[in-house]
Formats: sequence, C-alpha cells, structure tokens
Amino acid sequence: MKLVEGAPTEAAIGEGWVASDRMFEVHSPFDQALLATVTDCQPEHARDAADQAVKAFAAWKKTTPFERSAVLRKWYDLILAKQDVLARLMALEMGKPVTEARGEVRYAAGFVEFYAEEAKRVHGETIPSQFAHKRLFATKQPVGPVYAVTPWNFPAAMITRKAAPALAAGCTMIVKPAEQSPLTALALAALWRDAGGPAAALQVLPCRDPVPVSRVLIDDDRIRKLTFTGSTEVGIKLYGQVSQTVKRLSLELGGHAPFLVFDDADLDQAVREVSSAKYRNTGQTCVCANRIYVHERIVAEFVERLGAATAALKVGDPLDAATQIGPLVDRDVFGKVSAHVADAVDKGARLVTGGKPLGGTLFAPTVLAGVDPAMRIMREETFGPVAPVRAFRDEAEVVQAANDTRFGLAAYLWTKDLSRAFRVSEALDYGIVGVNDGVPSTVQTPFGGVKHSGLGREGGHWGIEEYLDVKFISMALQRGT
Ligand code: SIN
Repeated sequence: MKLVEGAPTEAAIGEGWVASDRMFEVHSPFDQALLATVTDCQPEHARDAADQAVKAFAAWKKTTPFERSAVLRKWYDLILAKQDVLARLMALEMGKPVTEARGEVRYAAGFVEFYAEEAKRVHGETIPSQFAHKRLFATKQPVGPVYAVTPWNFPAAMITRKAAPALAAGCTMIVKPAEQSPLTALALAALWRDAGGPAAALQVLPCRDPVPVSRVLIDDDRIRKLTFTGSTEVGIKLYGQVSQTVKRLSLELGGHAPFLVFDDADLDQAVREVSSAKYRNTGQTCVCANRIYVHERIVAEFVERLGAATAALKVGDPLDAATQIGPLVDRDVFGKVSAHVADAVDKGARLVTGGKPLGGTLFAPTVLAGVDPAMRIMREETFGPVAPVRAFRDEAEVVQAANDTRFGLAAYLWTKDLSRAFRVSEALDYGIVGVNDGVPSTVQTPFGGVKHSGLGREGGHWGIEEYLDVKFISMALQRGT
C-alpha cells in the first residue's frame, strides 16, 4: 500500500519489484501518519539478492569505466530532477526539515557526479624490476558484490556515498536501508534503473528486523565487502561477524564531537558555526557538536548569545519550508535526548533555553550551561538538539578534555590565531577537524573516524579505494629471436 508518491514499496531484487505477504508500516515521526506498507524482506529474499548480485557482478565488472560513468551521470541527472520528490519523502519518513532535505538531495547527487568522473581515474602502476626480462604491474579490480547497511539520518546521501563509488569501481551492491527510511532508498533504486543501470547491480532489501537478513549476507562468502554506517555498538558486532568470511570492511560509527571556542573568537561567527554544527538535521548526525567548550573569559557572553539564537529556531512540521528543527526520528532517540537533559539538570547544569518536549517527538532545542564531565551528555553521543557548554581555562586542558573519549569522528575549533589553529587541529585525535567551520562535509573530501568511530574513509578519491583490491601482475618476457 502506498500513500505517498515517488517511491516503490516493494523490494528491489534482481530485475523485479518483489512484494510479499509480510509487510511493515512506515509512519511519519511528526504526526504518526501511515505513509506506506513496505515489503518486509526475509532470509530467502537475501539469498535471492545475493545470487543476483553475484550474477550481475560478472557482467558489470567487465563494462568499461566510461560505460559505468555514463550510467552514473544519468543517475545523477535523474536524482536532481527528482529533488523535490526525494526531499519530501525524507521529510515525511524521517522528519528532516524539507529545506534541509533538498540540500541533502544535492549532497547525495554530488557523490554520484563525483564518482561518475572518478571511475575514469582508477589508475595502476608500473614497478621497476631487477630482472631484465620481467615487467611488473599493480592494477586495481573491484572487490566484488558488496552489502551496505545504511542509516536513517541521511536516507539519500549515506546510500549514494557508498553506492556511487562501489558502482563506479565495478562492484554490485545490496542495500539494507534503515527500517525508518526505506522509501527514499527504494526511490533511488528506481532512478538507478531509469538511468539504465542493471537492476541487480543495485538492490534494496527493506526489512523491519535487519538481523536475519544481515546474517545471510554476512555469512555468504561471495559477498566480499560490508560497509556500515550506524552505531558503534552494532559496528563492533559486525566487525566480529565479517571476520568469518574475511570480508573487506568499512565502518562509519558514532561520534561525540567537541567544539572548542577560544577567547579570540568573533562571538557572532562562533555562535553561528556552533549552531550549524549542533542543530543540523535536528542534532541527528554523527558529526554534530556534542560538547561545547568555551574559554572562561567569554563563556557567559557566548552562552547568552547561543541561548538567544537557539530559542529563535523554528520548530515544527518538517514539510513547512520555514522549519529548522523537525521531530526526532522515533521514541528511542527522543528518550535518550530527554534522559541526557534530565541527567544534566539533576547533576547541576543550568537550563538556558529549551529542555522540554513539544508534542510527539519534537524536542525544544536546548542549551545547558555549567555542565561537567560526570554528566552523561559529556560522555555519550546524544543525537539530538541539545548544546551543553563547559568553560575551560587553557589550550592544553581543553585538548586533553576533547580527546578524553573513545570516539574520534569530528571535532571543531574557533580561533583567529593561525598557530593555534594548526597546533590544536594537529593535536585533536579525530578523523575530521573543522577550523572555524561547523559543516566541513563535502563529497570530494575524506569522511571517517579513528578509534571507536570507525574504519576507512568515504568521499573523495579515498572513497573508491574502499571498493578496489590491488592486483600485482608479474610478466616474464620470452627471449627475442
Ligand atoms: C553522518 O551523520 O553520518 C553523516 C554526516 C555528514 O555527511 O556530514
């Protein structure tokens, strides 16, 4: 059953769209409206998809990079042409404010455009030999069929950030989208087919319970890579499971980003960048600022200005173009956000603004002052619109506090002092550092973390390497006559 336009509701398996007796419902997190009932894939669907992905790989890997590039380019054009439809789907199924969702569609399409070009730049090497009759080469080949597990917070971009480089490299991919956001994934698969892409090269298996479906694909020796974006807890389990079939692995896991504001900061600009880093996607990104450290000389003024900017954010219906903060995706996320705020206030934090539910899963954007390291919010990823602010005294102390976590995805700092910008960005144990920049992600740069935030990089020329194996060819020449 389909109540919203723009997306199929059946699984994209092989050449077809596969319906099933078992379906699951997709609801809007804003008003709980039923949006669609979608095929609930089971292990047998996963086995079928694996067979199809293997068959499709045999043909797709033999196409030239120029042929693959042309299909990707067409997919890019179609995604952009459907920008409004895709943005609306995301606003409906996971609550992203529609203006921001349009930005996500452009971000998602950007990966497809980038890898359409990058397909043609997968170069090998010739290696000097100590033997006169030998020629040595290193070439690259696609790793094989890939299994991708994607999150709900970027229903389009986290698919294209994986699928575009994989398909450009000559791999095929089976995507298991998050149960909260299957419709955008299915819409992208439909556009891939419309672009002339082989249907079985990009299959989508929606399911309510990912475990049995994932088990089939993880245990299948023919699937040669797993790429996962999601929580560190699930990532650690998957890391163990893929070892049994020695798959290649990319993990983009949780974060707990610190934002360091030094006392030379331009306060208006610092507040603007902290707000972008914090409230983007209603605080539901892995790179959202989770802890804000502000120099003690300016902290009072900063808190006042951040509080005013936060109180002015427009909260509400994600389909309203003026909305800046939408609903949290579900009750679990809402529960954790509420618990972090309650814990901080119980332990002595001051509520500057927000801190309360606004109906359904809407949560008022919140600023907390006077937080301390014993509070949950200073140790765990919140994934919601809450900005805890703590004062610091000097650079060494704040760098130590910023690094005192098992996470290492993104960190930010604001300073006008060039030497400090270098010193601190080098000292932060993170995969991404934004200097005076609260939104550093772009398609052509490496995205990924260190420590418990993951393995591998997505985006840029690094992103396609994750889908390529190096093959060494040694060629001995016959003696000439
Ligand atoms: C994420 O939250 O995993 C992605 C955020 C981004 O691409 O900036």
